[in-house]
Amino acid sequence: MSVLRRPEPRPGVLAIQAYVPGKSSAPGIARVFKLSSNETPLGASQKAIDAYKAMAAHLHDYPDGSASALREAIGRAYGLDPARLVCGAGSDELLNLLAHGYLGPGDEAIHTKHGFLVYRLATLSAGGAPVVVPETNYTANVDAILKAVSARTKLVYLANPNNPTGTYIPFDEVKRLHAGLPAHVLLVLDAAYAEYVRRNDYEAGIELVATSENVVMCRTFSKIHGLAALRLGWLYGPAHVVDALNRIRGPFNVNAPAIAAGVAAMEDPAHVERAVAHNDYWLNWLAEHIAGLGLVATPSVANFLLVHFPETSGRTAKEADAFLTSRGLILRRLEPYHLPNALRLTIGDEEANHLVVKALSEFLGKAA
Ligand SMILES: Cc1ncc(COP(=O)(O)O)c(C=O)c1O
Repeated sequence: MSVLRRPEPRPGVLAIQAYVPGKSSAPGIARVFKLSSNETPLGASQKAIDAYKAMAAHLHDYPDGSASALREAIGRAYGLDPARLVCGAGSDELLNLLAHGYLGPGDEAIHTKHGFLVYRLATLSAGGAPVVVPETNYTANVDAILKAVSARTKLVYLANPNNPTGTYIPFDEVKRLHAGLPAHVLLVLDAAYAEYVRRNDYEAGIELVATSENVVMCRTFSKIHGLAALRLGWLYGPAHVVDALNRIRGPFNVNAPAIAAGVAAMEDPAHVERAVAHNDYWLNWLAEHIAGLGLVATPSVANFLLVHFPETSGRTAKEADAFLTSRGLILRRLEPYHLPNALRLTIGDEEANHLVVKALSEFLGKAA
């Protein structure tokens, strides 16, 4: 008979630091620009919004548990076999399902030092051990990842591009990583920001998934498609991984309005093109103006910038954050990512971008 006086979670659960999302309000400030969660300033496609609204009359019906219409729409858009897709309540759910499906106690999952936080949380919550490897210039280092592989390694999580650094590795490097991994290690390519990347040497990983037994690619509707509130993501993988995930996911893990909006979003490439064009212009504009203020921003291919601050009192990231917040500009603090001297700035609309540069200029005591 147990001597516990109340139910206790299994060992390790209470050691997990819960994810803290980006702030969304500034005390006492009526008009706030939320630039802390990499959301799109263009909002969702009108077609997706209409499809979502049309579902209001069907809220009493369960959704299609296999999200067939959405898998077919994604399949049409990317030329993929819908049978090899799994949809999830955000790609977060898929990243977690992978951990729960492939990690047992003591098994290791590798991620890079400034890699997306969910990898660590998913690994710990599945009872696995996160193995953190160093980066080079805030960029994943394939040799460092390969060096960290052990007999216990089951997963390698790679965000490409990475959040919060905005850096990426070319497809040749991804292929070199894959070639160096033992066959039993599953490589998880998290391409949440793939649509934003404008580099000839980048690929999200579709070809590698199609030709391998140990690679999956995760994508999201939260970023360029502007459907973060609906929680919608998808995974493309080998048939055996898709089969395993379908056994452990909730039977109705994706809700019906999300499925409907996701289908419409897939069928509105013009909206995505507008978002790409907006991001291209303003990412460059912000990078240029921030450099002009004497701040260093890590070169980014995504919809956000990692801005570094000096450690000099009066100019630190923490003080910059307080100053910007007092002007209604909310950026992301990065202590949990081991980047206490940096803030992450999501590319906003024209007004927000101008206000950020003006406020940073005032903060640094320079003329705008
Ligand atoms: C690299 C990366 N992967 C996955 C996600 C999760 O996206 P979602 O769960 O909204 O699909 C995010 C969101 O911030 C991210 O930055």
